[in-house]
Amino acid sequence: MTSDMKTILVTGGAGYIGSHAVLALKQAGYQVVILDNLVYGHRDLVETVLKTDLIEGSTLDKNLLKDIFSRYNISAVMHFSAYAYVGESVTNPSKYYENNVVGTLSLLDAMVEADIKNFVFSSTCATYGVPQAMPITEAHPQSPINPYGATKLMVERILIDYDKAYDFRSVCFRYFNAAGAHPNGLLGEDHNPETHLIPLVLQTALGKRESISIFGTDYPTPDGTCIRDYIHVCDLADAHILGLEYLLQGGQSAIFNLGNDSGFSVREVIDAAVRITQKTIPVVAVERRPGDPPALVGGSDRARSILGWNPQYADIDTILTHAWAWHQTRHS
Ligand SMILES: NC(=O)c1ccc[n+]([C@@H]2O[C@H](COP(=O)([O-])OP(=O)(O)OC[C@H]3O[C@@H](n4cnc5c(N)ncnc54)[C@H](O)[C@@H]3O)[C@@H](O)[C@H]2O)c1
Repeated sequence: MTSDMKTILVTGGAGYIGSHAVLALKQAGYQVVILDNLVYGHRDLVETVLKTDLIEGSTLDKNLLKDIFSRYNISAVMHFSAYAYVGESVTNPSKYYENNVVGTLSLLDAMVEADIKNFVFSSTCATYGVPQAMPITEAHPQSPINPYGATKLMVERILIDYDKAYDFRSVCFRYFNAAGAHPNGLLGEDHNPETHLIPLVLQTALGKRESISIFGTDYPTPDGTCIRDYIHVCDLADAHILGLEYLLQGGQSAIFNLGNDSGFSVREVIDAAVRITQKTIPVVAVERRPGDPPALVGGSDRARSILGWNPQYADIDTILTHAWAWHQTRHS
């Protein structure tokens, strides 16, 4: 390690988006330390692909955080760790408030104590709730309709107050639907349980699932299925590097949507998957799920104009091609 190499702590770096950010950080010349409790993270990917220090533990462990901040000369923290199952957050909100809010507070306080004041946070479009206007910009009112979204909004609120009280600078990224996999074929989406459309569709293509369920075919959209904004995970990772550098150069706290400014319906995603995989993908139409808005499409001009973010993989076929390559290696 050269003396001018900055060290970044990445919580949740063994997970889906965090692991892509770790690789991007390393490629951009940063030293990385991962903190992950491995509840959902993958040790094998850290050891074989990321080749980065992994501290197995939780953001809820204050002594561990204190120890990390005294052992490493950390310049900034990228905070990906959270629980992110919307349905579970409704049935077990305590688990979500504990991990996503209390765990983040514990991390923030350890940072303030160690005088580390640059923070990049994974927020979500779920903080907006049911959209009143489209595309959804950062100025759209935030009114989450589930505890998961509420936990992320609470952290955003805490960050405003920490900025005022402690000169604590943060970049909050409100992601739309993270998707795809690294083009190197070595990193990708592997949640267990899986609830996201693209991996479920590809697992069906691989014969790991009998069929893919479409929740609602009578929405007021062109083909009756829900429309979502899919953003390639490597484009998210790139935005994190830009957000980090913005903070390290003295930028003020800021909030950015990260999406592609366009949406694809569930049927369009499945059709594209059939095209890319050349497999039969059985589909079952079922009832709508409560709380699913017909369409969620973000407006991400702010990240483009202020951070100079320029997503490389907006095309759904590219997103699916990368995801398919990963799924074939991971699940074969
Ligand atoms: N995947 C998406 O589409 C999406 C969209 C919007 C926001 N987000 C947010 O992005 C972040 C990353 O999402 P992901 O899809 O990569 O999830 P993930 O589950 O793959 O990664 C999260 C990681 O955090 C770890 N973790 C959880 N709680 C922890 C704790 N207390 N201490 C240490 N490690 C802990 C898990 O083991 C896991 O490796 C989350 O904060 C999520 O809410 C994701």
